[in-house]
Amino acid sequence: MRLLDRSLGRLSRHRRGPVAGLLVLLLGLLLTGGLYSAFSPASAQTDNSAAQIASGRKLFLVGCSFCHGQSGQGVKTLDGNQLGPSLVGVGAAAVDFQVGTGRMPVAQPGAQIPQKEVAYTPQEIADMAAYVASLGPGPEIPTTQDYSLDGLSPAARQEMIVQGGLIFRTNCTACHNFEGAGGAMPQGGYAPKILGVEPKYIYEAMLTGPQAMDNFSNGNLSPAEKRDIIAYLQSLKDSPDYGGFGLGGIGPVSEGLAAWLVGIGGLVGVATWIAAHTARTSRTKAKVQA
Ligand code: HEC
Ligand code: HEC
Repeated sequence: MRLLDRSLGRLSRHRRGPVAGLLVLLLGLLLTGGLYSAFSPASAQTDNSAAQIASGRKLFLVGCSFCHGQSGQGVKTLDGNQLGPSLVGVGAAAVDFQVGTGRMPVAQPGAQIPQKEVAYTPQEIADMAAYVASLGPGPEIPTTQDYSLDGLSPAARQEMIVQGGLIFRTNCTACHNFEGAGGAMPQGGYAPKILGVEPKYIYEAMLTGPQAMDNFSNGNLSPAEKRDIIAYLQSLKDSPDYGGFGLGGIGPVSEGLAAWLVGIGGLVGVATWIAAHTARTSRTKAKVQA
């Protein structure tokens, strides 16, 4: 408390001095920080040309048909288990998600298919996606407009984060936990941590409902609602960058406020200390000279 009193005393003594200047500078920096948005989504669009489908089919026959069948119809083992399900109608989005996140091709079947190194180039993935899309109508790969948050005003973004938080808490926390940290599922599976997942794959996960996850088609959750969720998850992912502590996932607004108060409080403290320190040094010098 004494320390606080002292620094507050100093703050008021130096109100018109260097501290005021520093505060103005800090405010300026903060405003700039608010305008900053960090992300650069990459996308490989499918162009459904016959050549692309043909090249996708070739890749599919080599890498996927063993489990999914020569024409993607699925393969049953002799004891009636599914070696790989039918891919007719799963759509390009499912292929982009499964292969793009390194889940497919499966190396080791188990309770849940884990993520591995991605085995194909973006072009090859796009080709196979085009082939699977040609088997039957299904969800397409979302475009950058569907999931990108670039070019939004900070206010619009904040609005989306709040909305997204509400939608996330209603639809996703049962499996992924309040902070998107993941959790166990029945039968040895798990819902993964979803902070840091690329926006495109968040969108596709909702669209296609991989493995034990529910499917949130665009009829269920509109594209705008999906984008709100992406904004919310992005804000959760970004918040540790303030150098803060976990606040138990009480929500982006209170967490943002805490980060603001603690972070800025700290900076102001440091600024005050520096200013006071220099002032005192120069006063001592002045005394010495006198
Ligand atoms: C060793 C067998 C195996 C191989 C090889 C394999 N898959 Fe699969 N695949 C599976 C199984 C099993 C599932 C079902 C996973 C689940 O939902 O539990 C699956 C699921 C999928 C799905 C999701 C279907 C849906 O309903 O959303 C896609 C898409 C897919 N695979 C694409 C591919 C592609 C493309 C390749 C080749 C690059 C491939 N798979 C290779 C076994 C395999
Ligand atoms: C019924 C439980 C359940 C619900 C509800 C659920 N998920 Fe999932 N989710 C899962 C499981 C299980 C996986 C892992 C699937 C896999 O590995 O193939 C997953 C995977 C994901 C992934 C992919 C993560 C990665 O590492 O690639 C994302 C993103 C995701 N979920 C987002 C969501 C969002 C957003 C919602 C709400 C709209 C949601 N999930 C609702 C169970 C669930």
